[in-house]
Amino acid sequence: MNSLKTKTVRDLAMEIPGATRVFERVGIDYCCGGQQSLAAACATAELTIEDVMKSLKLAAESHSAAQEPNFLTASLAELINHIVDKHHVFTKNEMERLRGLLNKVCAVHGQNHPELQTLKRLFETLSVELGPHMIKEEQVLFPHVKRMEAAVRDKRPVMPPPFRTVANPVRMLMMEHDGAGEFLKKMRRITSNYTPPEDSCISYQTLYQALEAFERDLHQHIHLENNILFPRAVEMEAAV
Ligand SMILES: [Fe+2]
Ligand SMILES: [Fe+2]
Repeated sequence: MNSLKTKTVRDLAMEIPGATRVFERVGIDYCCGGQQSLAAACATAELTIEDVMKSLKLAAESHSAAQEPNFLTASLAELINHIVDKHHVFTKNEMERLRGLLNKVCAVHGQNHPELQTLKRLFETLSVELGPHMIKEEQVLFPHVKRMEAAVRDKRPVMPPPFRTVANPVRMLMMEHDGAGEFLKKMRRITSNYTPPEDSCISYQTLYQALEAFERDLHQHIHLENNILFPRAVEMEAAV
């Protein structure tokens, strides 16, 4: 158990089934800030490391293997399909829905709660950046990774991509992930961790719950790309 303390949050997120849910619940950044050790992450989040380790152990024990495929061993095509079908579709749908909900809540409560205007601005900017980001993944990087994997499987030569090496789009996409992570942090900060005020209506509460779910999904999504898909794709390219 003690070895957990020195492992990085990123490694734990990959190795322990259900770890990302624990990190999400206690507020440990495992996607963009995953390179720090568990001990350092707990110190930053002012958490008792023993409690977090206990939760990680419980999560591993109670996790059913059928819940989630093992993305460390699944094919890259399967992982990409999962990312697109689950996370890209959810993000696109929610960006649309939440934009309308934010407009509605801002119109009713914006006077009394000026932070809603800031929240709306942050969410709009995040959405404007995430749309093209996902298109780049779906139209540029992901198709090449799938083609590369198929060529390796069939022992055919890999066609060189127009972006020369996988590392190039990966570097740019990871910078964009960092930017998205910062927006999520700001949104969480100005909403006091998505705590609705006492005078809030149902729409206000629904908005905060939905934004929190949006954040949770985006963390999971970025984790799968930054920590699993991108390194595996870079490794595969290096091997050929
Ligand atoms: Fe993505
Ligand atoms: Fe991404």
